[in-house]
Amino acid sequence: MQVFAILPAAGVGTRMAASQPKQFLELNGLPILIHSLRAFAAARRVTAIYVAVRRNEIERVESQVGEYGEKFGFAGRVFVVEGGDTRQESVVNALNAINEGRGGDEEDIVLVHDAVRPLIDAATIERTIDAVAEHGAAIVGLPAIDTVKQVERTAHGALVTSTIPREFVVLAQTPQGFRCGLLRRAFAEATADGFVGTDEASVVERAGHAVAVVPGSQVNLKITQPGDLALAEFYLRQRG
Ligand code: C5P
Repeated sequence: MQVFAILPAAGVGTRMAASQPKQFLELNGLPILIHSLRAFAAARRVTAIYVAVRRNEIERVESQVGEYGEKFGFAGRVFVVEGGDTRQESVVNALNAINEGRGGDEEDIVLVHDAVRPLIDAATIERTIDAVAEHGAAIVGLPAIDTVKQVERTAHGALVTSTIPREFVVLAQTPQGFRCGLLRRAFAEATADGFVGTDEASVVERAGHAVAVVPGSQVNLKITQPGDLALAEFYLRQRG
C-alpha cells in the first residue's frame, strides 16, 4: 500500500488582500507552501506529494521545489501539476497525475491537504493515515468551541433558525484521507451530477461512505485573512 499526498495550491486568495496568492506568502522566511510540503515529507509513509498550481505558477513552484527539496530532503518526491478553477478540479487533476504515474491503486491512500495550512504536524498526518487504513475515509476535525447557530440569510444579514448542539459539530480541517478507489468513484459521481464540494469529504459522504474524524488542533489554522500570518508566526515561535 502506498500513501500519496495532494496539496491543492491553485487558489487566488481574494480574502487576504495580498499582492500574491497566500500559499506563496512568506512565513518565517519560507513560502507557506514549502512549510506544508516539509510536514508531509516528514511523514514516514508518504511516498510522493503532488502540488496543484495555476498554469502560470508552474515554473516558479518547480524551481522552489527544486531549491528547497535539496535543503529539506524532499527532492524527487514532489510533482507539480496544473490546478483547475475549483479546488475540486485541482484535486481531480492531481489524482489523475498520480494514476498516470502508475500509483493510486484501489487500496492506496491519498491525503488531501490545503497548501495554506502550513502548521500541520507529522503526528496528525500519521494518525489520519491510520484512520483511513481502518475506515476507508477520515478527516481531521476540530470540536466546536463556540455555540453554533443555523441561520437564514436576509437582506440585512441573518436570522437564527436553530441552535446546533456543539457535541454534534466538528469544523473540517485537512488532511482529508481516502482509499484511492473510493475517492475516484466519488469524484466520478460528483462530476456526473455537477456537484462541487468545498472539501473532499463532502463528495465522499454524498457517495454514501462513512467518514471518520481524527482530532485536529487550532494550531492547524488555514491562512485566510490578514492577521492569520502573525498568528501562525506566534505558533511557530512556540514550537521553537
Ligand atoms: O479557497 P480555499 O481557502 O478553500 O482554498 C483551500 C485550498 O485549495 C488552498 O490551498 C487553495 O490554494 C486551493 N485551491 C485550489 N484550486 C482552486 C481553489 C483553491 O487548489 N481553484
